[in-house]
Amino acid sequence: MRPDLAIDLGTAATRVHVASRTIPLTRPSTVWQEGGSRPALRQGVIVDADAAAGVLGELLRRAGSTRWRRPHALACVPTDANEAERAAVVEAVQRAGASTVTIVVEPLAAAASAGLAPETKTALALVDVGEGVTDCAVVFEGRLVASAALRIALADLRATVRAWLDESLGIRVSPVEAERVLREAGVGRGWRTPHRLHVVGSPARGIGPLCAWLEVDALHAALDPVAERIASHVAAFVAGLPVDLAADVSEAGVSVTGGGALLAGMVERLVGELGLAVRRVPDPLLAVVDGARVLAGAGCASVATR
Ligand SMILES: Nc1ncnc2c1ncn2[C@@H]1O[C@H](COP(=O)(O)OP(=O)(O)OP(=O)(O)O)[C@@H](O)[C@H]1O
Ligand SMILES: [Mg+2]
Repeated sequence: MRPDLAIDLGTAATRVHVASRTIPLTRPSTVWQEGGSRPALRQGVIVDADAAAGVLGELLRRAGSTRWRRPHALACVPTDANEAERAAVVEAVQRAGASTVTIVVEPLAAAASAGLAPETKTALALVDVGEGVTDCAVVFEGRLVASAALRIALADLRATVRAWLDESLGIRVSPVEAERVLREAGVGRGWRTPHRLHVVGSPARGIGPLCAWLEVDALHAALDPVAERIASHVAAFVAGLPVDLAADVSEAGVSVTGGGALLAGMVERLVGELGLAVRRVPDPLLAVVDGARVLAGAGCASVATR
C-alpha cells in the first residue's frame, strides 16, 4: 500500500505532507478549550487521544481527506515509543480519517530527507532535539542500527526559563514570552546574543503588569544543567556505539534536526561535548516530515519500521 500522506506528529507542532503540495501543512499540536489550549502530546507521545485526533483531523481535512476518500498515511514516532504509544498514533490517525497507517521511527524518516540523504554507504548519525524528546540514532542502509531517546528537550528549557524568572526576578511570564526569551538568549553566548533582555509579565506576588530586564549570562547559568543533560545524553550515545559505527560517525560527524538545532548555542555545545563535526541540517523543523514524504513516495514495502 503506497501512502499518500506523510505525518510528523510532534509535541509542539504537527506537520502533514501531501503529494499535491510543495510545503507541508502545519499546526500546533494543541486544541482549544475554554480557559486555554490543551496539548495532545507530551514528551513525544500522545497524552490526550481526543486532542490528537482533533489536531490530525483538521490537517487531514485540509489535505483533502473526506469520509469517501480516506488516505493511506505514514506516521512517525520517536525511537523509544513502545507498542501502546505506537498503537495510540495509529488509532489517532485513523480516527482523523486515514484508512491505513504505517509507523516509521523519526530518524529513518529524517535520514531520507533532502538535506540528509547520504551519497555514501556509511552510517549516518542523527540527533533530533525537539520540543519533548532528544532522540539520537544511527541509520545504516535504510535501517535503524542504534538509538537512544531522552524525554528532555526544549519544553524543559522553557520551563526552566519560567521558573528562573519567577524565582530570581519575581516575574511570571506566559509560555509565549518564555519562548521568546529562550530564542533570543539561546543556551550559550553567540555573536548575536544580547547581554540583557527585556521581559514582560506579571508580578509573582501581586497583580498588574510587570516589566524587567534580565542578565542573559545569569539565565544561561540557570539553563546550563538542562542543556548539559541534553548534550551529555548525545555524548554518551556516541561513546557507546560499536567500533565500526563509531568509526563512520567520527569521520562523518553528527547531523542535528528539530527546533533545538535552531537554538543559539546548542550546536556549539554539542561540538564541545562530542569533539566531532556537528552540522545543522538545512531545514531542521521539516527534516522528519520531508523524509517521511520521500519514504511514502517510495512505497511502504521498502520501509523498515524499526
Ligand atoms: N528559530 C528557532 N529558534 C529557537 N527555537 C525554535 C525556533 N523555531 C522553533 N523553535 C522551537 O522548536 C520547538 C519545536 O521543535 P520541533 O518542531 O522539532 O518539535 P516537535 O517535533 O514538535 O517535538 P518532538 O519531536 O520532541 O515531539 C518549539 O519549542 C519551538 O519554540
Ligand atoms: Mg519532532
